[in-house]
Amino acid sequence: MEGPTISPTAAVGFPQVRMRRLRAGEGIRRMVRETRLSPDRLVLPLFAIEGRDASVPIPSLPGHSRLSPDLAARAAARAHDAGVPAVLVFGVTDRKDGAASAAYEQDGPAQAAVAAIKDAVPEMVVVTDVCLCGYTDHGHCGVVVDGEVHNDLTLELLARTAVSHADAGADVVAPSDMMDGRVRAVRAALDAEGHEGTGILAYSAKYASAFYGPFREAAGSAPGFGDRRGYQMDPANGREAVRETLLDAAEGADMVMVKPAAAYLDVIAAVRAATDLPLAAYHVSGEYAMLKAAAERGWLDERRATLETLTGIARAGADLLITYAALDAARWLAEEAP
Ligand code: PBG
Repeated sequence: MEGPTISPTAAVGFPQVRMRRLRAGEGIRRMVRETRLSPDRLVLPLFAIEGRDASVPIPSLPGHSRLSPDLAARAAARAHDAGVPAVLVFGVTDRKDGAASAAYEQDGPAQAAVAAIKDAVPEMVVVTDVCLCGYTDHGHCGVVVDGEVHNDLTLELLARTAVSHADAGADVVAPSDMMDGRVRAVRAALDAEGHEGTGILAYSAKYASAFYGPFREAAGSAPGFGDRRGYQMDPANGREAVRETLLDAAEGADMVMVKPAAAYLDVIAAVRAATDLPLAAYHVSGEYAMLKAAAERGWLDERRATLETLTGIARAGADLLITYAALDAARWLAEEAP
């Protein structure tokens, strides 16, 4: 063919082109909508404590409480009824020591909650956070030797923690510690213990973020000295997130994650382009708290701002949205469904 190829839209502009035609009514807007939120994408975090009939509100996470296993099971059932397919369980305890012993007890807070949830709602996909920071007396995500978090000694305890979660019935374990080699270590330990069917959702690109504040209050997991910059990623780095993700994929991750989410949309898009694995994004505690606080003051419409934020995270390329707003979002989406 001779001559220049002319793109059908590039050759013309206004007044032939009118972008508003496709925005003229809800019917046409629905037809051309590129991103759709669905409860299927949502994962609800739950904080599990020991005891019975115990619910301790978390002031900086309005709407969320630390729950004993029986109440965690009830919360999971409510989420299931609203169409949310998965929960992410965090164990919370006062029993902390240098070896994070409560992290891998057979009947620790996370394990007990997992068992109760699977018993009450077997269809619920139960994901567990695998980390030591909620269980160490210094609040770091690993074993501390000479003032440093020791990578390879930590791997053993993470693997043991992951196996204990799988023993309790977890469908998927999610290592969030940012040690090197943890996905391989967790995969090997699961397989050795007959848990080859248990999945791994790797917190692959997890940043040293200021937005984890409310979570650390909830889990009592703020580091007692120093900070997490020696193992979590520098917020300034994007390319490094792709490297982290590809390494986790090579080590056997079934799904990968970017965290936080709303301040890291470019990272989500870059990771999306680099891997075909399902990609989760964690809209973290501080991101949720900001929306809640502004809504409480009447400065934002909570429902619209929340759904817009989640839509943006999905549009950037996330398949799964881990969010403290999962229950509300699922209900809002059900109301909106045509
Ligand atoms: C454990 C962990 C943290 C979060 C998830 N897993 C805290 C941290 O790294 O300090 C944060 C989640 C949130 O803020 O919602 N390492």
